[in-house]
Amino acid sequence: MKFTKIIFLTSLFSIALSQHGHARQVDSHSQSTEGVLAHSSPKQIPQIKEKNLGIEAKVDALLKKMSVMEKCGQLQQFAGPGEGTIDPSYPELAAKGMIGSTLNVRGAENTNKLQKIAIEKSPNHIPILFAYDTIHGQKTIFPVPLGEASSWDAKLAEKTAHAAAKEASAMGLKWTFAPMVDIARDPRWGRVVEGAGEDPYLGSVLAKARVKGFQGDDISDKDRVMATAKHFVAYGAAVGGRDYGEVEMSSSTLNDIYLPPFRAAAEQNVGSMMCSFNTLNGVPCSGNEEMIKGVLKNDWKYPGLVVSDYESVAEMVEHGYAKDPKNAAQLALNAGVDMEMKSQTYCENIQALLNDGSIKIETLNEAARRVLRKKFELGLFDNPFVDPEREKFELETPAAKELARTAAARSIVLLKNNSPTDGGKPLLPLNPNSGQSIAVIGPLADDHQSPLGSWLGDGKENSAVSALDGIKSKLNGSESKILYVKGVNTVESTDPKVKNLDEIKKAVDAAKKSDRVVMVLGESDKMTGESTSRSDLSLPGRQRELLEEVLKVNKNVVLVLMNGRPLAIPNEVEKTPAVVEAWLGGSQAGNGLADVLFGDVNPSGKLPITFPRSVGQIPIYYNHPSGGRPNDPNNSYTSRYIDDTVDPLFPFGSGLSYSKFELSDFKIDKSNVGKGESVKAQVKVKNLSNIKGDEVVQFYIRDHVASITQPVKALKGFERVTLDGGQSQLIKFEIPYEELGFHDRHGNYIVEPGSFSMFAGQDSASGLESTFEIK
Ligand code: NOJ
Repeated sequence: MKFTKIIFLTSLFSIALSQHGHARQVDSHSQSTEGVLAHSSPKQIPQIKEKNLGIEAKVDALLKKMSVMEKCGQLQQFAGPGEGTIDPSYPELAAKGMIGSTLNVRGAENTNKLQKIAIEKSPNHIPILFAYDTIHGQKTIFPVPLGEASSWDAKLAEKTAHAAAKEASAMGLKWTFAPMVDIARDPRWGRVVEGAGEDPYLGSVLAKARVKGFQGDDISDKDRVMATAKHFVAYGAAVGGRDYGEVEMSSSTLNDIYLPPFRAAAEQNVGSMMCSFNTLNGVPCSGNEEMIKGVLKNDWKYPGLVVSDYESVAEMVEHGYAKDPKNAAQLALNAGVDMEMKSQTYCENIQALLNDGSIKIETLNEAARRVLRKKFELGLFDNPFVDPEREKFELETPAAKELARTAAARSIVLLKNNSPTDGGKPLLPLNPNSGQSIAVIGPLADDHQSPLGSWLGDGKENSAVSALDGIKSKLNGSESKILYVKGVNTVESTDPKVKNLDEIKKAVDAAKKSDRVVMVLGESDKMTGESTSRSDLSLPGRQRELLEEVLKVNKNVVLVLMNGRPLAIPNEVEKTPAVVEAWLGGSQAGNGLADVLFGDVNPSGKLPITFPRSVGQIPIYYNHPSGGRPNDPNNSYTSRYIDDTVDPLFPFGSGLSYSKFELSDFKIDKSNVGKGESVKAQVKVKNLSNIKGDEVVQFYIRDHVASITQPVKALKGFERVTLDGGQSQLIKFEIPYEELGFHDRHGNYIVEPGSFSMFAGQDSASGLESTFEIK
């Protein structure tokens, strides 16, 4: 095959390693530089700004005055009591300048108290950087990130991140460990809930939005916090979907699928990155010099701070990569990990490592520099304290509450909306003024805790508006009667001493007496998040039985799913006329849900991740290569299962509305595209119904012949549009030639000539197609 390679930026990291001797010196591991993992993109990562040159001089001056132990102190993050109080050991450590950062200390009183000691008593008066996992809210809790990603609404993600930053900073925090930008193609992995799903493009758009929301344009602003893109890297690809598991991955997949959201966060000037627990092709990411020093710091020129994950430096011993904690410190520091979270291998060993030449003083200085640079950029030297008054008026404001309600509603994906009878009207929206009786059934229907998700910041326990609360307040004052029955628990206890809830009969009775049934089923908060991998993605416990019994007596059932990952529930979906994916919607989950169920908000969410039909189909994702024998149901010797289809339950990008939209007149402006040019496309979207609504028009491409086989479809852009009933609009989309490439096996970003298709669709599985050539 003949083609011209256009190389935008070739990584010479492997060569640089050997020429400049960056490789580790005193250990037996030597990382392979074959198929080197690199990345390039036409966009630049912001470097230290002109106005910050003053900061570099200040850092230099400070470093000159600091002792080795004080520098070590800057590299240590202590993880203290979860409730945010000051550990009894901290005051003395702070006075010695040994606390670079804390995880968990928060509340203006606590942070100010500890800060005062650091500022007044430590040898060089260096402020402490207070960090916390403000993931999807601090006090006001927004939908879990995967839920919010279903909105395909970058402005919304930016707003909720800003609202979270406002509350976190009012409580004395200046650093958050969000956003998680890990691509997740395996819903068995419990942490899919924390990210933006399976797609690198959508993931990158949301990564930028969230970083912008946390940091704003200037992280020293009082209502902003420094963001962290985590977990670097490929953490979401753990084998078997088991959290912390090993990752084996080609450099093309790493560069084209898993790295782009990190790159996007870096382009948005994210202040820090956190390295991950997993190994990547055998090397723990906390000691992965090729990725941290090589790709991130050398190739990308990322100027930010790299922090380890919780004890992940020390865990390199358990991995069988470091021989002892001292060796772990050496490997991590030389790999480019600037700050150690929780474990203390740095502070305990750096002096000895310097003494025996295992690390260089320049390496220690560089790590300390990156920490101090951020402290200056955050304005901590000028304003180390937080005004305690802010806590009185900046937490849980009515505006934040309202935003949480909007976000909850916008995160909802309408998966199915049929009529229970042939030819009848779709079941949703429900009519609040019909006087109909409604049975509200299920273990999550009146759960005030689960909607808060697994990271609930300082959100009050059991404080979420439940589905039942939301429905009740929507119907307040109407004739409608509500019957609530829990039915079963989310998970049944296996302890013989615990009496499991068995209210299935009561639920069936309530359903019999009611005109409509809303069943709220799914996963509790304890079933999603870190270390909650599942081997079975059906409805847990006896929820399926509950649903089936109810359906026997009443067909007018709306199944509302509250969960943190795709579920494999083909039978439930087939038997139930209406299915709503509500995720874990945060503080205002029930109100947002009721807004959608009763038609005050027309649902417009789209799935950011594929729903499988069975666990056996996993991993399943839309942007897979074709293979030589793509699935053909009429031909046995093609890619298939003998016991099910290869189709997903719901594809990536799908989601319905109470309106009905149609795409037409899809055109591309030219059939040949050359370097420096771009492909311009347009498509007409029409609202065929008489209900105002939003559609998310999605643009995908396919590169038909390439030196590395390319996905059958890859998302390259989308636009959300609001249309009145009957209204239509032309949507324009432009993609530059430079964004039509991919990474080859050596990490080079290339655009190859040949034929391409572009698709305009309402989801990833269907759409209009047009073709063009790259010259
Ligand atoms: C471990 C998690 O992997 C990480 O995401 C989190 O930020 C840290 N713990 C700190 O809580």
